[in-house]
Amino acid sequence: MDSFEFQNPTKLIFGEGQIQALDTEVPQYGKNVLLVYGGGSIKKNGIYDQVMERLSTIGATVTELSGVEPNPRLTTVRKGVELAQKNNVDFLLAVGGGSVIDCTKAIAAGTKYDGDVWDLITKKAEVKDSVPFGTVLTLAATGSEMNAGSVITNWETNEKYGWGSPFNFPKFSILDPVNTFTVPKDQTVYGIVDMMSHVLESYFHPATNTKLQERMAEAILMTVMETAPKLLENLESYEHRETILYSGTMALNGTLQMGARGDWASHNIEHAVSAVYDIPHAGGLAILFPNWMRHNIEATEPKLKQLAVRVFGIDSEGKSDRELALAAVDKLSEFWTSLGAPNRLADYDIDDSKLELITDRAMARGPFGNFRKQEKEDVKSILEMSL
Ligand code: NZQ
Ligand code: ZN
Repeated sequence: MDSFEFQNPTKLIFGEGQIQALDTEVPQYGKNVLLVYGGGSIKKNGIYDQVMERLSTIGATVTELSGVEPNPRLTTVRKGVELAQKNNVDFLLAVGGGSVIDCTKAIAAGTKYDGDVWDLITKKAEVKDSVPFGTVLTLAATGSEMNAGSVITNWETNEKYGWGSPFNFPKFSILDPVNTFTVPKDQTVYGIVDMMSHVLESYFHPATNTKLQERMAEAILMTVMETAPKLLENLESYEHRETILYSGTMALNGTLQMGARGDWASHNIEHAVSAVYDIPHAGGLAILFPNWMRHNIEATEPKLKQLAVRVFGIDSEGKSDRELALAAVDKLSEFWTSLGAPNRLADYDIDDSKLELITDRAMARGPFGNFRKQEKEDVKSILEMSL
């Protein structure tokens, strides 16, 4: 294993009816609240009313920032920073999916920064302080509810970057499976692909002797694969929503990353694609990740072989290591498409006309990939394989 330190300060508040916890959590940080949410799903499903009721019970003053986009944009973050500063906000509450939470993280840091928040996202300046914030999660996918990551898009320049800071951990996150009942089928599928991709990014790492990390990763993959088809049959199953919600958090809250730094090249390439085409993050991953595995088959073969046998239950009898590894990639891709995820860029009407721009964006921070370094030529091949 690599040497590591682990600290995750987010208080996870999980279960039906846990929204009540706002009554005791929010007053610990302040009463002047900026409520951040997306395009209106929380108004349709009643979560907005429930949150407002709790905030009114504790006598909070509420300023609202609505309309956070999926793939949240810098323009919205800047709007939030302005609102928070103007209203002397002392606490931010994100109610939504990963996009709303990521946007809130950037607003929280930007509010305490004397300059343009883009400096923090592009790592030109370091986050030194931040407004405390909590979340009410409504979509199982990113793990942002219990991690220090955030991904923001500058649509004007077609740049989408992940950034992190110890200040980005939510103080608390409320996860009620019921709050995810109304997530439509396509977004449910994207969430499932995203959390499985986070596990897989962690799985492909260069560290040695990571037996437990690998078994934990495989356990999450198997649990999600067993549950996903059942959940899609019944989107309001508490049992299956609960399993998927907990899996999404465990996939990217640092647990799997202890002692082994994962790869994250597929995520980097996907962020470049959605910076140019604004496609759903996990739709891009379902297309790109299997091709990253195939393109780097020399390096990925041993882990893929292990996945073939332990997770996908492929019979190894008479098969070479290479055959087993490639069979695992096919199985993974078939599983995602069986749920309804895309498997070609053409599914989003993306052709080869902007491959140069996407490659350029993916390379913006130089060669990347902790398990296998990807250069410009690698990115181009993976994109071409994905057309
Ligand atoms: O905007 P509203 O109206 O709320 O609708 C949203 C949105 O249209 C809807 N939705 C959310 N909860 C719902 C619901 N609809 C009905 N009922 C509910 N309960 O779902 C749509 C997608 O929401 P979004 O937040 O965009 O999805 P997700 O959670 O997948 O977040 C995607 C973003 O997170 C980034 C991605 O790049 C993308 O920008 N990521 C963040 C990470 C992190 N912070 O750690 C890691 C990930 O790898 C990822 O890159
Ligand atoms: Zn992701």
